[in-house]
Amino acid sequence: MDESSIINTYRRFSGAYDRIFGRIFEQGRKEVVGRMSCRNGDRILEVGIGTGLALNYYPFFTQVYGIDISPHMLAVARRHIEQAGLKNISLSLMDAQKICFPDNFFDKISAMYVATVVPDPQVMMDEIKRVSKPGGDIFILNHFSNSHLVPGLIETMLTPLQKYLGFRPRFSKDRFIADNALDIVESMPVNLLGYWTLIHAKNSKP
Ligand SMILES: C[S@@+](CC[C@H](N)C(=O)[O-])C[C@H]1O[C@@H](n2cnc3c(N)ncnc32)[C@H](O)[C@@H]1O
Repeated sequence: MDESSIINTYRRFSGAYDRIFGRIFEQGRKEVVGRMSCRNGDRILEVGIGTGLALNYYPFFTQVYGIDISPHMLAVARRHIEQAGLKNISLSLMDAQKICFPDNFFDKISAMYVATVVPDPQVMMDEIKRVSKPGGDIFILNHFSNSHLVPGLIETMLTPLQKYLGFRPRFSKDRFIADNALDIVESMPVNLLGYWTLIHAKNSKP
């Protein structure tokens, strides 16, 4: 998974993304924004915002910043914002591994279906923790490796194709949590058959 293959994959997907991944991932997106318990003036960062399918769920009294590395996905997100007349959202073309915001800037940060796509999820998490306020809320929504025999085997078989699929089929949740020293508030299965996991963590930096 490198930057140019990600940009190419999402250039190809951008036109059909909402039809393919809109409904199937919808419950997870709603759960994330619902669990944010947004307060007036909250500054929220959505990392890997894609076509902006969660944007309608954020209350108007929040300030939402969306970043993505794909100009084609952001172009679709811009259309959604215009059509819905959303005034509290701003979008930037930006690498999640090099976030151009100051330290301790955001109250809440989400990365939905992104951790298995970025080249280095740990670098992304270091950046998320840096721009999050101490005690800020971090929401990671993703597919993690399945421990059941058949889905686990299918994921292993798909691994050599990850560059073409645009995501890593095998991704250990325990390792992700340990590597990033996440202070977990809750972790819950979401979407079809609970195949995806929503992790809510607090940024425990001093
Ligand atoms: C599976 S899509 C998820 C989009 C959206 N979050 C959703 O809920 O549908 C993954 C997104 O992550 C973006 N992405 C991948 N690597 C990235 C990076 N290094 N920095 C920022 N965005 C990235 C892709 O361009 C794509 O829009």
